[in-house]
Amino acid sequence: MSEKYTLPPLPYAYNALEPIISSQIMTLHHQKHHQTYITNLNAALAAQSTALAANNINELISLQQKIKFNGGGHINHSLFWKNLAPYESSETKIESRSVAPTLKSAIEVQFGSVDEFVKKFQGVLLGIQGSGWGWLVADSAGGKGKLEIVTTKDQDPVTGAVPVFGVDMWEHAYYLQYLNNKVGYVEGIWKVINWAVAEERYKNGVDGGNALKL
Ligand SMILES: [Fe+2]
Repeated sequence: MSEKYTLPPLPYAYNALEPIISSQIMTLHHQKHHQTYITNLNAALAAQSTALAANNINELISLQQKIKFNGGGHINHSLFWKNLAPYESSETKIESRSVAPTLKSAIEVQFGSVDEFVKKFQGVLLGIQGSGWGWLVADSAGGKGKLEIVTTKDQDPVTGAVPVFGVDMWEHAYYLQYLNNKVGYVEGIWKVINWAVAEERYKNGVDGGNALKL
């Protein structure tokens, strides 16, 4: 049995993203929602070990969806916390040349400008039906990958591409503050995107190897 997964600490204070994302949302989202995915993932993996030892194929099949959902939830939130940065911090300023030069150039080549890219990304986020995520992905690491805006449903993680950054579009990510004003959340999130982390993932993959070490 592998080691149990644990909640990674936030890389900033719970109120660091205010006024874009409230301390209340960040606290609940991290301590309750993310923790629940981890708790359920660990339980499903423990049940899988038992089922494997018992050759219980029915149980193994029924556990697959739980592992995918909760494992995806753990991966997605771990990526999300890191690709956000405190309000007004230098990492959020893509217009500054030093923050994400390689990624910014690639965005300008493929989307025309950062503004055009943001507009397109917002449209994709607002088009998500039900719960899911919006992602900027690259088809390879190394700083030359082709960029694409994609969505994943529920807690499906990105597979087969580098997740440069993601935006959680579950209601729990914004509803306590924005209520039904989804547009307000989608427009505000750009003020807390960590472009330095996005640049690092674009150039070197996630954690330097296109695989999240959790
Ligand atoms: Fe979430």
